[in-house]
Amino acid sequence: MSRYALLVSPSANRVYARAAAALTIAELGVLGETLLAGRIGDVRPEEVAGVPYVTFDGDLDDDAVAGLANVSTAFALFERAADDAFRPVELRRLDCLDDDLLSILKYQGKTNELFTKLLLNVTVLASQSAGRMLTDRLRVLDPLCGRGTTLNQVLMYGWHATGVELDARDFDAYAVFLPRWLKDKRLKHTAINAKLRRDGQVLGRRLDVELATTKEAWAAGDTITLSSALADTRTTAEVFRAGSVDAIVTDAPYGVQHGSHGGEGGLQRRPLELLREALPGWVRVLRPGGAVGIAVNTHTCPRDQALALLADAGLEPRDDPAFRGFGHRVDRAIERDLVLARKRV
Ligand SMILES: C[S@@+](CC[C@H](N)C(=O)[O-])C[C@H]1O[C@@H](n2cnc3c(N)ncnc32)[C@H](O)[C@@H]1O
Repeated sequence: MSRYALLVSPSANRVYARAAAALTIAELGVLGETLLAGRIGDVRPEEVAGVPYVTFDGDLDDDAVAGLANVSTAFALFERAADDAFRPVELRRLDCLDDDLLSILKYQGKTNELFTKLLLNVTVLASQSAGRMLTDRLRVLDPLCGRGTTLNQVLMYGWHATGVELDARDFDAYAVFLPRWLKDKRLKHTAINAKLRRDGQVLGRRLDVELATTKEAWAAGDTITLSSALADTRTTAEVFRAGSVDAIVTDAPYGVQHGSHGGEGGLQRRPLELLREALPGWVRVLRPGGAVGIAVNTHTCPRDQALALLADAGLEPRDDPAFRGFGHRVDRAIERDLVLARKRV
């Protein structure tokens, strides 16, 4: 058993201020209970030579280190020797694309990239696909995808991304951004932006992108796909196949004027109502054993009410202590938390 010190990314300290260490500890808690199956313990904040770290005990093999490498706030990891010397541990992240994919687009209402990564990690860890996250291309849906922060993080992991968004400005902004970014990076890809039809009716538009990270991967057919629909999220089950995604990860409207954008004005202020109406369709698209993770503003969408809606939709809420440490303040109007549930097998 060794003791490890994880250096939290400086950007996490800027985004979360004092909550960065607590959120890192919460994410490590979920990782420890799921993928790492109890192999880390005594996780706590600790200052070493004036620098804050999150430290923990662990008995880590390569797979465990690979899991830790993707912790949303992980900047560097050290193994501490008996004399307290720090030995750097190489972090091989899943990341397969340049990180400006996530940072270039800046707009009002964007969900913070680090928090999006945390939500994606924790949701997949709560699903039955947790054991496949380091080896397989999972399929993740963001049914309120805005301009694609979750979709980009999913692509960054080399996974397949699907999205739904009602605001044409957001859909169009992403439909212009992604193909242009792929072209700038000289990555092999195809992009089709076409009408979205169901039963002879036009529901909206859809963007279908297929890409590969190298020419060799493209030639071998080892591709990553993105499908995004301009549609009302309550029609999700009409747009995507039943049982087709491993996880649903989304940042629900915050129900406040400030920071919100687009969509239907009324719905923006009634996130619980939107979730109640949309969840049945989302659940159909989720495969058995899949998980739903939703970020909510607890001022307008109290945690217990959101969990009750997940249960009403036939899901099993995950509310054990490991999943309760994610609440944090964003600003005066937004107290953010996440709710999770799993579809029965
Ligand atoms: C908190 S924002 C998500 C932002 C996104 N994560 C990003 O970083 O761009 C919530 C999104 O839900 C969308 N929305 C609200 N009601 C919707 C509906 N009925 N169908 C589809 N999208 C909807 C809004 O337009 C908004 O883009």
